[in-house]
Amino acid sequence: MTSALAPVRPRPGAPLRKVARVEDLSAEIRALLDGPRPPVEPPADPVPAPPADASAGRGVLNAVLRGLALRDRMTARHSAAVARYARELAVATGASAAEQRLVHTSGLLHDIGKFILPDSILQAERGLTAQDWELVRRHPAASAEIVAKVPGYDVVARAILHHHERIDGGGYPDGLRGDEIPWISRVISVADAYDAMTARDSYSPRRSVAAAVAELQRVAGSQLDALFVERFVELLGTRGVAFHHADDADFEAELAVEHSFSAG
Ligand SMILES: [Fe+2]
Repeated sequence: MTSALAPVRPRPGAPLRKVARVEDLSAEIRALLDGPRPPVEPPADPVPAPPADASAGRGVLNAVLRGLALRDRMTARHSAAVARYARELAVATGASAAEQRLVHTSGLLHDIGKFILPDSILQAERGLTAQDWELVRRHPAASAEIVAKVPGYDVVARAILHHHERIDGGGYPDGLRGDEIPWISRVISVADAYDAMTARDSYSPRRSVAAAVAELQRVAGSQLDALFVERFVELLGTRGVAFHHADDADFEAELAVEHSFSAG
């Protein structure tokens, strides 16, 4: 378990392993981007691009993210990984550039509400009690509440609120099922589950990529959106091993991607 106050960046001099970037997209993914939208699942709830004033809010939210990183390095790393995986999944399913940005932003911010959790839970090296879980289950609403305060981020806030819903209706906070769950939430859920299973610093024991894929496929259609799981598994195969290293996710790199949205 990492220290809550450990810096997010590697110590000076430590080798930085390459982070998969959007620019590194393989020819196959580019072909998907350039070609017609594949018949995966057009969003049931098309999302508008954030309004022009959203760039100021982006700066505020990036500052909040840095605050979370100082408090909880593990969640910051996880958020960066989820943002990267989710965005690449959005690309692979033919999402528009505006939708890809919303997915990335939602991934980075999806667990920002973990601010509400005490260190005794964030750093727990024990099983969580029922009382702990009750608090943990409040983090999507807390995340959404923080993000919803920023003008232009209501779509992101809604996506974040529902990232722990399940396709079969057994999730939280609202027990939404199937297409009732915003499509961005369903994308985030797949990326979230994969990183939680494969990351070195996760709460649960680390699984191999093959074991994680098998588990994603096992829960496809009950916990996770089956079509997004299918596309994600295809993406893992297409991207090769570089895409498999959740531990290489670099918080700073994903914040830089986020900054590029404001500049673009
Ligand atoms: Fe979460």
